[in-house]
This record gives sequence, C-alpha cells and structure tokens, in this order.
Amino acid sequence: MLSDDELLRLADDHGTPLYAFDTRDLAPRVARLRAALPRDVALCYAVKANAFVLPALEPLVERLEVCSPGELRICRALGVPGEKVVLSGVNKDEPTVDDAVRAAGVPSVVTVESASQLALVRRVARARGLRVPVLLRLSSGNQFGLDRADLERAAREATGDPFLELRGVQFFSGTQKVSVRRISREVARLGELACELRDGCGLETAEVEYGPGLPVAYFEGDETDEGALLEGLAEAIDDLPRTARVTLELGRSLVAACGTYLTRVVDAKEVAGQRYAIVDGGVHQLVYYGQSMAMRRPPVRLLGGRSGASGAGEAPWNVCGSLCTTNDILAKQLPLAGLAEGSLLAFSRSGAYCAAEGMALFLSRDLPCVVLVGADGASEIAREGVRTDRFNAPSVSAR
Ligand SMILES: Cc1ncc(COP(=O)(O)O)c(C=O)c1O
Repeated sequence: MLSDDELLRLADDHGTPLYAFDTRDLAPRVARLRAALPRDVALCYAVKANAFVLPALEPLVERLEVCSPGELRICRALGVPGEKVVLSGVNKDEPTVDDAVRAAGVPSVVTVESASQLALVRRVARARGLRVPVLLRLSSGNQFGLDRADLERAAREATGDPFLELRGVQFFSGTQKVSVRRISREVARLGELACELRDGCGLETAEVEYGPGLPVAYFEGDETDEGALLEGLAEAIDDLPRTARVTLELGRSLVAACGTYLTRVVDAKEVAGQRYAIVDGGVHQLVYYGQSMAMRRPPVRLLGGRSGASGAGEAPWNVCGSLCTTNDILAKQLPLAGLAEGSLLAFSRSGAYCAAEGMALFLSRDLPCVVLVGADGASEIAREGVRTDRFNAPSVSAR
C-alpha cells in the first residue's frame, strides 16, 4: 500500500486525477488466497477488473479470463501464453474465437454460453484442425450461460465431437458475495454437475471454473470476516468429488486493494449552508460497487491534512467531481479538517474496475494518467493521460 508521501510525490510528478496501482501488493494477495485454499485450486484473473496490472499479475495466476476482442488483443500484445487464456463472454465473434484458439497451436479454453456458440467453436476448431477445450457455462438465471437442460444437451454433443474437448463447467452468479452458505451451496451444485458429466458423458476429470465473487469492503461498516469466508469456500471445495478440478475466477478481490485514485480540490465553497469541495476527478473515473449518490462513505483520506478530525467548529465537506450533473458526488459530509483549494484526496481500494468501468467519456474530460509502482518503489507510466474530445465529436472526414 502506498504511503501518503509516495502518493503526494506521484501527484506532483504526474498530475491529477491519477490512478496509482501498487503492483507490490499483488503477490502477497495471491499468496494469502492460496494459503487459505486447498493446494490444487487454480486461480484465474478476470482481466476486466484491471488490465494495467497484467504484467505483474499474469505470472502469479494460472489463467486469465477475457471477455472481448479488446481484452484478447491486450493479452496478445503483452505476450500472454495462448493456453492461459479463457475466452469467455456472451458475445463471441468468429475472428476472435479463431484468434484465441490458433495461438501457437495451443488452444485457449473457450466457454460456451449457447447452442450457437457451441456450433461456432466447433466450426472454428474444425477449420483449424484443432481440438479446442471448452467449458459449458451454467446460467444463474439471466442472459449468461445455458440452463441446465441445454447444458446437458451441449455436453452430450461436445463429448462425441472430435474437434471439441469438453473440460467441464463455468459458473459465475454475481459479485460482492458475503454469504458462506451461498458460496458453499453454489460449489456443491457444481460438484453435482461434475458428477453428472462423469456419469452422463464419461468425463473423468471435470473442471469446475467458479467465480465466487469474493467481496471487497468499500464502505465504512462493510468489513467482513474474509478468513471465515475463505474457510467456508475451502471446505466446500474439499467436499467436491475428487474428480472435479477447481479454478477460481476472481477480479476485484485480487486487485482492488492495490489501487489509489488521486484527485485534487480545485474549488472550495459554501452554498446554501453546505460546504462543497470540487475536485478534478469524478464519478466517471471512480466506481465503487454499491455506491450511488455518495449514500455510503468510501475509503478516502486527505493527504497531508487531518481527515477524520472534525476540527473545532469545522463543518464537513461534500466532495463533488467535475461533471455537469448533480450525481457527481464522491463523498458526502466528510470531516476533512484543513481541506482547501489545492488539497489532495486519496481514494483507496480503487484497483478494480474504476479505471475501466466509469463513464469515462462524459464531458470529454481527459482519461487520467495511470502509474504502476513496482519493486523498490519505482513508478512507471502505464498510460499517459488521454484527451477524449475526439471520441465525442464527428471526425474531420465525416464532416
Ligand atoms: C464470468 C466472470 N467471472 C469472474 C468475474 C469477476 O468477478 P469479481 O470481480 O467479483 O471477482 C466476473 C465479473 O463480472 C465475471 O463476469
């Protein structure tokens, strides 16, 4: 975790708003999870959570889950080995499936979410003369995956197909899960499915790729007993039939803690009896799952100030971003004694989804610079700030 001094220096060097991802946090995080889980459990990182940290994280995990042509291109450009890629997603196109499976003759695992996707993967595999490993995605009752009956049908079809290697099932039913019972129930259900694949399709070792949606405590009072949750997950995995090999698909719980979002106060004023700090960032760049209109208090502190101290007679601050919408509130009623124009605010646990999921193009504000802090504390720019006006205007040739 970056110290206040390091963050102040990064803001000076690179300007704000800024994402700082401390890649030194990743190995201990992976080690903590591995220590709590059964030894033969593999880890798969969901790239959508944050692709900037891939160079540091990729060597620490067995697989990377990618869900779009763009994510696959990122992996290719970074030299990720083809067989580490799990091509997932509800919209797969032929060129992308083809690109995924032909890499160096070692096909990636491809998930299948519909009968049409099964036919697509088969077509590509046949054209390439490859046997492509597939996981059938079980739906949790939404647009993702196959329901149980269709999954069984697809399993029977895939088993007899010379171009498909049925490996097992994939399942993800949501994020920020805090219930041990729910996670245990889901794992047990996947175990039953693995047995059915064994009995019905002769699949001796069925892979179960499961996204447990492990939670990150973003708001005050949200802290959960992660030890108990992991213990419950480990027990549920231990109870699976020996013939099921488990991979856990994880995003936010691997990377949220490595990130800090820095934003500077550009104006401080009082309106109708409320104090407002206007910052150079905003909700288009900072997404905390479950946050809406700053109803909850995010993990933020004033650098070089006295956050948390109420300061005698000092009224709290409403921290608002730079967008033209009353929704752009990052925090309400924060005691930030000493806040003034030019102050720097650090929002922690912003390593997952923030840099990719925000409505970054609104108002044509620049995309923040991204810096990675690595071994020995040295920082490098992973992405310069990017002007976005050209994405929001007709191109010259179109006029
Ligand atoms: C299929 C799949 N697996 C894994 C994840 C990662 O979830 P989380 O960030 O909650 O770990 C997601 C997130 O949307 C997903 O869609």
